[in-house]
Amino acid sequence: MTYPFKVIEKLRVIPVAVIEDVKSALPLAEALLEGGLNLIEVTLRTKTAFETIAAICRSYPEMIVGAGTILDASLISRLVDLGVGFGVSPGFNKGVAEEALRVGFPLTPGVITPTEVEQAHKMGFELLKFFPAEISGGVKMLKALEGPYGHTGIRFIPTGGINISNVADYLSIPIVAAIGGSWFVDKKLINEGKFSEITLRTKEAVRLAMKN
Ligand code: 3PG
Repeated sequence: MTYPFKVIEKLRVIPVAVIEDVKSALPLAEALLEGGLNLIEVTLRTKTAFETIAAICRSYPEMIVGAGTILDASLISRLVDLGVGFGVSPGFNKGVAEEALRVGFPLTPGVITPTEVEQAHKMGFELLKFFPAEISGGVKMLKALEGPYGHTGIRFIPTGGINISNVADYLSIPIVAAIGGSWFVDKKLINEGKFSEITLRTKEAVRLAMKN
């Protein structure tokens, strides 16, 4: 498999999906592929998350499936067995980070402060989730972090509060590798089966990502 972070840095938008009904999994994957994205982050927040991940990995091997909301290190081996390509943790959880390094699982740990950035970098992580982005200083904070860290190889994936109105601002910051967002895979759209709307929004997100 292609190293997922290279693909993420090329596509520049990660759909962060909360899937409550496993029946939505395949139509959602199809809608994203049709919209131009062979990438999805499925959050481990629902009872059906593992079943959903398994279904997408089985039916769409061309899709890079990530797992979000990894709060517990013991989940990582299960995710690797399912074929999950990358993981995301909302915070800088040392147990999760150590386990990911131990088994060679690509992880983007969550950070906000310079202290967390440096701790994560010292452990060997270069691609970091900046979460929750918008309420933690957003574009201004990332531009400030660019000063001391721009030359280090550290890159951020801001997530949380990003939508069609501010995505271009985030993507124009050189230290931003990609963004994560749920606006184009909104939980309500998924639950109502509005997959053609998801495809439309995905196309628009991809178009903006290519431009910036
Ligand atoms: C999350 O983990 O919930 C993501 O940050 C998604 O945030 P958003 O719904 O604001 O895009």
